[in-house]
Amino acid sequence: MKIIKAKDYEDMSRKAANIISAQVIIKPNAVLGLATGSTPIGVYEQLIKWYQKGDLDFAEVCTINLDEYRGLKHSDNQSYWYFMQEHFWRHININPENVHVPDGSNLDPVKACKEYDEIIKHSGGIDLQLLGIGDDGHIGFNEPGEAFELETHCVDLTYTTIKANARFFAREEDVPKQAYTMGIKSIMQAKKILMVANGAGKADIVRRAFYGPVTPEVPASILQMHPDFTLVLDEAAAAAL
Ligand code: PGA
Repeated sequence: MKIIKAKDYEDMSRKAANIISAQVIIKPNAVLGLATGSTPIGVYEQLIKWYQKGDLDFAEVCTINLDEYRGLKHSDNQSYWYFMQEHFWRHININPENVHVPDGSNLDPVKACKEYDEIIKHSGGIDLQLLGIGDDGHIGFNEPGEAFELETHCVDLTYTTIKANARFFAREEDVPKQAYTMGIKSIMQAKKILMVANGAGKADIVRRAFYGPVTPEVPASILQMHPDFTLVLDEAAAAAL
């Protein structure tokens, strides 16, 4: 596990974007595992700037997102597909056929999850997986539990997650209660994993995840076992390390 400390959010975003940028330069048809949430927004903004300068080309890149709310269509402005479109894809030259998010509009969890596992399999494997960390230690929407779920599955979101995500919705009751998420095995099979974390609110969970025991009670703790895991965090998130 490599830990890279950044001064602040901007510095964290630039350092993480540099790692993704190197991946795309080395392998123009890289498969990038992408994440939503407020933390990676700065990373996407930086990548967009480099694309606009002509330093990056996404024409052959394929992306596979971690998760999606069950019940939301692409066109719903609270869907993660929509988030990705707004914050990243529509600003770069990615081929719309190469972007993937679990199909939230498919209400059949078994079919939706199986279909997504097939997509992950046919992509040839994720070269670099970008992750945030939830206040409860979740990665993707793999919530704390008794066991690590391996493949794409439907989860009941914890109250902590619903509360944390309520800031994006008009009312807490509007936050969907379930989501489809890539499983821990699929995340761990990525060749490289890059996590970004910022702000004092993440300091305690970062310490528990990476300086505590590996346990499904803190899903991110499994990343301690990954052979190529990099954590980029700002000073506030690193305060308890
Ligand atoms: P955040 O979410 O980046 O909005 O803090 C992180 C996550 O839930 O993975």
